[in-house]
Amino acid sequence: MINEQNSKLKKIKSCATKFGTPLYIVDEDELTKNARNLVNLFKKRLHNVEIFYPYKTNNLPLVCERFKEMNLGAEVSSILDLKLAIRLGVEKIIFNSPAKKSDEICEIIENDNVTFVADNIQQLRLVNENSKNHDIGVRIKLSNTDKKWERFGIEPKQFLENYKKCTKNRIVGMHFHCFTKNKNPETYSRLLTHIRNLILKLDEKTRKNIKFVDIGGGFDSGGYFTLNPIEFASRLTGNKLLPIRSIQYSMFKKTDMKSLAKNISESFEEKILNIKGLENTSLYLEPGRLLVNNFIHVLSSVLYVDKKFVTIDAGTNIFPRILYEHHPIINLSSLSENVIKTNIFGSLCSSTDIIGNFVFTNSLNISDILMVMNIGAYSISQAQQFIEPLPKVISLKNGNAKTVRVEEDFEYRYKRDVGD
Ligand SMILES: Cc1ncc(COP(=O)(O)O)c(C=O)c1O
Repeated sequence: MINEQNSKLKKIKSCATKFGTPLYIVDEDELTKNARNLVNLFKKRLHNVEIFYPYKTNNLPLVCERFKEMNLGAEVSSILDLKLAIRLGVEKIIFNSPAKKSDEICEIIENDNVTFVADNIQQLRLVNENSKNHDIGVRIKLSNTDKKWERFGIEPKQFLENYKKCTKNRIVGMHFHCFTKNKNPETYSRLLTHIRNLILKLDEKTRKNIKFVDIGGGFDSGGYFTLNPIEFASRLTGNKLLPIRSIQYSMFKKTDMKSLAKNISESFEEKILNIKGLENTSLYLEPGRLLVNNFIHVLSSVLYVDKKFVTIDAGTNIFPRILYEHHPIINLSSLSENVIKTNIFGSLCSSTDIIGNFVFTNSLNISDILMVMNIGAYSISQAQQFIEPLPKVISLKNGNAKTVRVEEDFEYRYKRDVGD
């Protein structure tokens, strides 16, 4: 896999020579292939299923546009991302956010192709006060989920006490999103049981209006691993004696989407579609990480090689989550599945600017091109300008490379802050 015969890797390396480093690189062919595969796996099993791509995961217009071309909807949480989805001509949009002012809510629901999902009782009230005749969704807080997610959604009991007050608009959908990086599709089955029980308690008129159940996202993509507390401590102290698992390229296994689609579709049929009157309800999904993580990478050059560490020209500011995760790092200048353990420091003046602790290669030398893989989720959309400018983004499609976002430069920053 990681060898000189891999023509994709050769092409990627040539982008570093042509465009310079650091660089984000989008593998468009694999990105679209993966999304098509996911859509087909679900469509084979369910007649009413729709996928909404969450723009927060990576709102690079190129990525959003490719998903729009495949007829995926958009899941957005800000007016800016809403405007992007509208500009791209996305036909169906879900709007989710725990904090929206009433004038924003009015702006959102005025768009006929947007379904606003009320996150709390106040939002449900605001929608009712400010509009009529709209189809809306409600986000439900489900028990037995990770406490971190308790901030979101309306408790089932509270919803049952209040939904009848929503007289001017129709509640047409139930939504939940309770975790991220979830590796166990059976969790969705458990959560769908709670939604089923809630739907069964609604009055008949409201129940008949339910057109969709949205199970959110949270499906892990594989292709990286989250550091456990010992590994995290080891990384920050540079203590190489603490083992970071047994390192093999095969440990970065990707998610089996076939069994994911099978498990979720079967649970949906069993828990929702067999409720009388809900036989045609749509399953909505909002996969973020699963759709983008493994198809965007960072290319970076080795600047210095020391006995104890290596310094490269990409910093954690361009992929902040890398501090808590390990992503495969391969050396495009010396391809091998062998491992060299060393601390890879980034370009920032910060002691915790650590990109990783091992590289798949036989040797590490100044000017080598490293590829930090599978960083497509929550990197470009969370990148922070800190010391170094945000790099350009290159897309690779059918062997052709082109710039899809230019590098931040001094003029851009000066104009933004000082004006012309
Ligand atoms: C409402 C909602 N849907 C979908 C997602 C995407 O999650 P993931 O990338 O884990 O699939 C998020 C992420 O926070 C979210 O808040």
